[in-house]
Amino acid sequence: MLTTTSSDLPATAGRWDIYGPVHKGLRRGHCALLQRLATTDFTRDTTALIADLRMHLMLGETHLADEERFIHTALERHSPGAACDLERDHAHHRARFTEIEAAIDALEAAADPRLADERGRTLHLLFSRFVAEDLVHMAEEEESVWPRLCALFSDVELAEIEAEIVGSLPPEIAMGFMQLMVPATNAAERAALLGGMKANAPAEAYAAVYELAARPSLTPDQLADLEALGLAA
Ligand SMILES: [Fe+2]
Repeated sequence: MLTTTSSDLPATAGRWDIYGPVHKGLRRGHCALLQRLATTDFTRDTTALIADLRMHLMLGETHLADEERFIHTALERHSPGAACDLERDHAHHRARFTEIEAAIDALEAAADPRLADERGRTLHLLFSRFVAEDLVHMAEEEESVWPRLCALFSDVELAEIEAEIVGSLPPEIAMGFMQLMVPATNAAERAALLGGMKANAPAEAYAAVYELAARPSLTPDQLADLEALGLAA
């Protein structure tokens, strides 16, 4: 019989997960938009899809910049050169964002429905390439970089880095990330995310997150779990 003891647990078990919830949120957003791009009739009005796609790209760009400014800077201080590969991937993502933004502009400029259909197909495929690349990149960060961060920093220090990131976000971007993360995380992660915010943010800011990020996207059971934990707004 195979027995498992606590010595079998990886060193990251139970540690402050600086990548997990935000990456789960980005994956959820990537998949939702990929599905919408796949099922859209580009000969019809695509205003809402394009607005949501542009917002998602802005969140993606913000995420890259925040990782570089806060996480990579901390990593490089202890381990010079450790962020080189990560920043090469980030440069590649930025080039992909530029291509996707150009494809969106081209779609918007297409007056002929057949041209719009063709440009929508191009946009879908470009976005699918970005999603594939980012899924690999985020997994590498969680599998390889997070263990290094856990070895270099205490949970308190990792939480401080995360708090610096959150504190640097404009309110509409912070709300965008909460809308991605709240439905994307598991019950324990969601309770920690909302519990931390409820303890530290003004009551009206927490109420706005509950109304805009939790209530519209969670099931009645998930909302009841939050209520039982005292996390309803
Ligand atoms: Fe990254």
